[in-house]
Amino acid sequence: MSILSKHAILEKNVTLLATFAFLVVTIGGLVQIVPLFYLENTIEDVEGMRPYTPLELAGREIYLREGCYVCHSQMIRPMRDEVERYGHYSLAVESKFDHPFQWGSKRTGPDLARVGGRYSDEWHVDHLSDPQSVVPESVMPKYDYLSNRRLDEGVSLASGMIGADDIGDIMAANAMVGVPYTEEMIANASADFLAQADPDSAGYDDLQARYASGFGAPDINIRNFDGTPGVSEMDALVAYLQMLGTLVDFSTFTPDASR
Ligand code: HEC
Repeated sequence: MSILSKHAILEKNVTLLATFAFLVVTIGGLVQIVPLFYLENTIEDVEGMRPYTPLELAGREIYLREGCYVCHSQMIRPMRDEVERYGHYSLAVESKFDHPFQWGSKRTGPDLARVGGRYSDEWHVDHLSDPQSVVPESVMPKYDYLSNRRLDEGVSLASGMIGADDIGDIMAANAMVGVPYTEEMIANASADFLAQADPDSAGYDDLQARYASGFGAPDINIRNFDGTPGVSEMDALVAYLQMLGTLVDFSTFTPDASR
């Protein structure tokens, strides 16, 4: 009796068929689901990962609002060509505090996972304001209006802007899904937000202590990103772009093969 004719027994008996189908789906399901219980082990523990500062978080919100992810991915795949072009492949831990993550699969423009520190602030402001002025063949749209949208003067959420007064709420929402924002960070959100775009601010040391030294992370970039007075959406977006992929020190990082 061949295996195929035995299969006929299954096909003619609905109870037996249901039982075996259930068994097959159960095994298949377990194979997919069980590894997820050990997900903790697959996310490396790496020195330097810290949550976004209030200004960077606002920049990230602008990145989402403007749909930058439609053209830019934020995940460097572990393939030779990608690593040579963009730098060390992305680690899972690097998007640990991203809700939602920005990996993406569409690259009309380059991957931005490690764009932090690659260009000057001026370059970013020129490029975002008018990409074709820097890269003539670029198909990237102009985002010049970001410079005129001030976040340090009472802005309303209804207009789609997240200002100094509201960023604490966004941080609280992130804290609810596991980002380690403390009550102290949330209470000082507005002050930290303004301090990061003002290198002469009295809040300089507090900001470094709360976000950098506390996590063993590199110093926070504190400067007037767009070069004009006040805090604009341009400041926030450039602050965000300039820290992307800069937290893990790859000169000392060694992948843990035992995991
Ligand atoms: C229609 C697609 C498109 C959209 C939307 C878009 N970009 Fe781009 N972007 C590009 C292309 C194409 C390039 C490469 C040419 C250039 O440098 O302008 C690029 C380049 C860049 C670069 C330089 C990267 C590098 O390594 O050289 C940055 C930074 C950047 N984009 C940021 C953004 C941000 C921030 C947004 C949202 C505010 C955005 N882009 C929206 C297409 C896009």
